[in-house]
Amino acid sequence: MENVRLYDELQTQISHLKKAQVQLEKSARLAGIGQLAAGIAHEINNPLAAILGFSELLHQAVGDDLKGDVEIILKEAQRVRDIVHGLLDFARQREPHKELADLNQIMQDTLKLYRYQLNKARVRTHEACDPTLPPVEVDPNQIKQVLLNLFTNAAQAMPQGGNLYLSTHVNAHAEISLTVRDTGMGIAPEHLPHIFEPFFTTKDVGQGSGLGLAISFGIMQNHGGRIEVESQSGQGSSFKLYLPAAIFITDDSNNHALND
Ligand SMILES: Nc1ncnc2c1ncn2[C@@H]1O[C@H](COP(=O)(O)OP(=O)(O)O)[C@@H](O)[C@H]1O
Ligand SMILES: [Mg+2]
Repeated sequence: MENVRLYDELQTQISHLKKAQVQLEKSARLAGIGQLAAGIAHEINNPLAAILGFSELLHQAVGDDLKGDVEIILKEAQRVRDIVHGLLDFARQREPHKELADLNQIMQDTLKLYRYQLNKARVRTHEACDPTLPPVEVDPNQIKQVLLNLFTNAAQAMPQGGNLYLSTHVNAHAEISLTVRDTGMGIAPEHLPHIFEPFFTTKDVGQGSGLGLAISFGIMQNHGGRIEVESQSGQGSSFKLYLPAAIFITDDSNNHALND
């Protein structure tokens, strides 16, 4: 009997290790792509600033017959600038400014920010917050950015509207998770291994730049957490963020650890 238990435990550990290895390989690959992308973004940044600056001047100088054309140049150049900035964000992997925070609260705050767009897209939200969630040590703005990326993707995956299920949970290992599940079009199995790569997108020009999940992946990593996905074509998608619970360092006499 004891052997069976040990064997099971060993299998579990091996499967954990395998998962960790896959995650590590993915990070190394993403780091390489990130460096290349950052180099290109820097090169594009300066000429782009000139294009933007001069087209603004041009916009003021031309007559009404040409203003529309120049506006298109301006708008498109601004779009390129947004992409370049997103890319630099991804590559720089900005150091998070961490503070103790309540993940439920961060989720609610982000939802408030995005409420209008969700209503417009006819997306109904369903929330299940775990009230016993211990605090996390995070940069709230960066986690909000991750959530906004996930909400945007979910809304885009449900062009006819649909349901968005949000929930938080803490497991026995004091690991905190936040799930964002949609009832949208789902992800094709051949796309699934690529969705966290920068520039991977299945969307039309103007709809997506392929940076949202790459940036989110980097942010979760910088927080000692991770992001996982489960999805099937036509069955919706579920993204899960994992974060470690913040641990309070206190003296032994007054030891209020996690589960107090
Ligand atoms: N909730 C979702 N439902 C279906 N597909 C998704 C979802 N989230 C991400 N994807 C897929 O992953 C790709 C990459 O996502 P992302 O990095 O946010 O870039 P973008 O949204 O700009 O395309 C998307 O183009 C889409 O194919
Ligand atoms: Mg996106």
